[in-house]
Amino acid sequence: MSHITDTVTPQHNIIRPPLVSGLPLLGSALPLLRNPHDFVKKAYGEYGNVFRFRAAHQKYIILAGQDANRFVAGEGKDCFTVEGFWGEAFEHMGCPHGVVGVDGEIHKFQRKLMSPHLVQSAFKDKIPDLASPIQDLITRNINKKRIRFGPLSRHMISNQIGYNLQGYKTSHKKVEQMIYLFSSVMNVFGLRKWPKIMLYTPKILLAAAITKKHVERTLKLSEQRSEEDKQTSPQYLDDILPAMKAKPEWFTEGDIGMHALLPFVAALDTVAATMGFMIFRLLNDPALYKRIQTEVDTHFANGVPDLATLRSMQDLNGLVKETMRLQPTGFGITRTAAKDFVFQDHQVYKGESVIIFTTADHTNPDYFPNPEKFDINRNSKERNEFKQPAFAPYGKGAHNCIGASLADIMMPLNMGLIVHQLTITAACDLNKVNVIFNPAPVLSNNFKVSFSSRSSS
Ligand code: HEM
Repeated sequence: MSHITDTVTPQHNIIRPPLVSGLPLLGSALPLLRNPHDFVKKAYGEYGNVFRFRAAHQKYIILAGQDANRFVAGEGKDCFTVEGFWGEAFEHMGCPHGVVGVDGEIHKFQRKLMSPHLVQSAFKDKIPDLASPIQDLITRNINKKRIRFGPLSRHMISNQIGYNLQGYKTSHKKVEQMIYLFSSVMNVFGLRKWPKIMLYTPKILLAAAITKKHVERTLKLSEQRSEEDKQTSPQYLDDILPAMKAKPEWFTEGDIGMHALLPFVAALDTVAATMGFMIFRLLNDPALYKRIQTEVDTHFANGVPDLATLRSMQDLNGLVKETMRLQPTGFGITRTAAKDFVFQDHQVYKGESVIIFTTADHTNPDYFPNPEKFDINRNSKERNEFKQPAFAPYGKGAHNCIGASLADIMMPLNMGLIVHQLTITAACDLNKVNVIFNPAPVLSNNFKVSFSSRSSS
């Protein structure tokens, strides 16, 4: 096959992954910059489960589809490390053992501490608490014209998780500074799209200073809590801080600070971006909007529904899942090969950058008939298509999304609150709104909406 450019090792029938054809010097840099999700989708269609690509001086190997998902979560779990991708970024931020950027025992230890705070049962009786920060921002934005939906949804999500895990909300401006800092650091170290010098611009230095202050304040508030407060209203940091401080051989001050930040930034480029995609979809499809509103009105008529009711809403959850199927914010996970290994007769060498395209089968017709069609009926009891392993929006393996079950409450709840109370109209030309990669996919900043109260109409 002309795509296979490296030599075959005949004695083992093991070959190097085929190289995606591209331009002489740039390789695949242009389509990758334009839309990395479309690029890997197209290459998966052409090259199959394993391939390589080059983008200027960077080289990646892609493992795609459900065999790759099983491999990273099972027999191949020791073949990968997160440190190559996240290491320098976390080092730069002073948290070399941040949960996302570390493997092994130090990683497991942190997940074990975090998990009880993020499982769905922890929120079973707290749906009204999850709703209250959203309600607050809905009320503040009623009758406002030309609202930029991206910053508003990030503010909503930061307040929702920050308030519920850490007991306080932060301002819209701080949220934007924090997300700007994170995406900049990732663009420099993770994706290597920007030169390091970018991290020393006044804008980023300001974002870093504001983030640092926020962390200090959160830690201080947490340390001032009495034992009684901790018993009556436990917070995320109550047991995480002492447990991490008891292991100074593992954790730096910065690692601890990262946990003070997590509740305020964890889901900004996932939940908040997915909400934008959903609102955009509804504005482009009035029949779908009407259908969702009808179901929401039935279930939200008497106030915030309980968890069982939220979960029973087939159309609303269909909207959430179908959006995550076609526009997955975490469409792949990036790793470094921790050792030489072979996947489906293809050789991968230690140190190579690997992307596991976990959502590759989201558009495979074997699992999702008519895959490019946005169809919330996939969530019906008869079809139940989101129950298949082919649906993998939350990643796979040791670092899979620890907030997934919380996200599964937040997204229908937030959309329900918005759709029930507001008439949303576009306050921009929807044809000019694009998906940008920052580095995760999100709608461009020109996506603006107007809100009016349905109760007064
Ligand atoms: C639309 C919703 C969400 C999506 C699509 C999503 C997606 C993902 C994905 C794909 C990963 C794996 C990253 C990797 O392996 O490199 C991940 C990890 C993670 N997610 Fe989420 N996420 C969502 C919501 C949330 C929420 C609500 C929280 C927290 C409250 C959260 C916290 C985390 C954390 C801390 C990790 C890192 C886990 C680790 O390294 O062990 N996520 N998420």
